[in-house]
Amino acid sequence: MNATLITGASDGIGKAIAFQFAAKKHNLLLVARNEEKLAALCAALQLKYKITAQYIVADLYKPEAPLFIYEETIKRGISINVLINNAGKGSSGEFYQNDLAGELEIIQLNDSCLVALSHYFLKDMIAKKSGTMINIASMIAFIASPYMAVYAGSKHFVKTFTYALAEECRPYHVKVMLFSPGLTTSNFMNTKENNNEWGKAVTSDSNTQTPEQVAVELMTAFEKKKAFWVSGSKNRFFQKISALLPQRFIAKTMGKQKRKQMGLN
Ligand SMILES: NC(=O)c1ccc[n+]([C@@H]2O[C@H](COP(=O)([O-])OP(=O)(O)OC[C@H]3O[C@@H](n4cnc5c(N)ncnc54)[C@H](OP(=O)(O)O)[C@@H]3O)[C@@H](O)[C@H]2O)c1
Repeated sequence: MNATLITGASDGIGKAIAFQFAAKKHNLLLVARNEEKLAALCAALQLKYKITAQYIVADLYKPEAPLFIYEETIKRGISINVLINNAGKGSSGEFYQNDLAGELEIIQLNDSCLVALSHYFLKDMIAKKSGTMINIASMIAFIASPYMAVYAGSKHFVKTFTYALAEECRPYHVKVMLFSPGLTTSNFMNTKENNNEWGKAVTSDSNTQTPEQVAVELMTAFEKKKAFWVSGSKNRFFQKISALLPQRFIAKTMGKQKRKQMGLN
């Protein structure tokens, strides 16, 4: 059975993407930690769209999780023709004060896990000369962002890694897309790492979309076989402008603005 694998599918953008792909009759393999949410989502998707939806409970902070997922697909006889690396987390605040273990988890989830899953599944796609990988970055992948330093760094990695793989995969007819949402009304900013005064200052003046709006754009970009897409017209405009400016200038301006919002010098 062919299926689309979505990480971080129990909630937020990943869950909305699952609905989009199910509506287009893709069988699904959903990954997250919350089994109750995954089971309920799979049942709802199967009933509504008459597809096969399965899940794997995995904690992607654990370095062994990607291999476990890959081996589980082989055991279940599932061939992944679309891989969507969506699971991610961030943090807001002064880097030196943030919990180091939490900062390293961001790199594990947003980068190391994404690299490992890409490695396992791209090999099979390349052998079959077909398939698509979509990596979810962020608007922050285009700007050095003080007070979200590790998250921004992790998404810059996703960006350059994905650009490079898109070219490496081109001769094998495997599509690789970088998809970048802007601020989205999910639980992302409600985590203990983001739900603080810095998080509010960092996001106070951002344009927002719902997870459903983001997922609709992702589906359109997927169907048009785009290699690059920024979700939301205002975000696309901002991304184009930011590409013209030096990163150090952006960092300086944003740092100043956020300190001002925090009532600091
Ligand atoms: N929301 C935004 O403003 C925004 C903006 C730009 C980019 N993005 C990016 O969009 C992607 C999705 O974010 P979102 O807004 O949908 O976040 P979200 O609402 O917080 O959802 C995160 C998803 O990832 C899963 N997850 C988190 N940690 C995990 C772990 N250790 N192992 C397995 N699964 C894990 C969560 O499920 P469980 O808790 O069940 O594990 C959940 O399904 C992320 O890559 C994020 O960086 C978000």
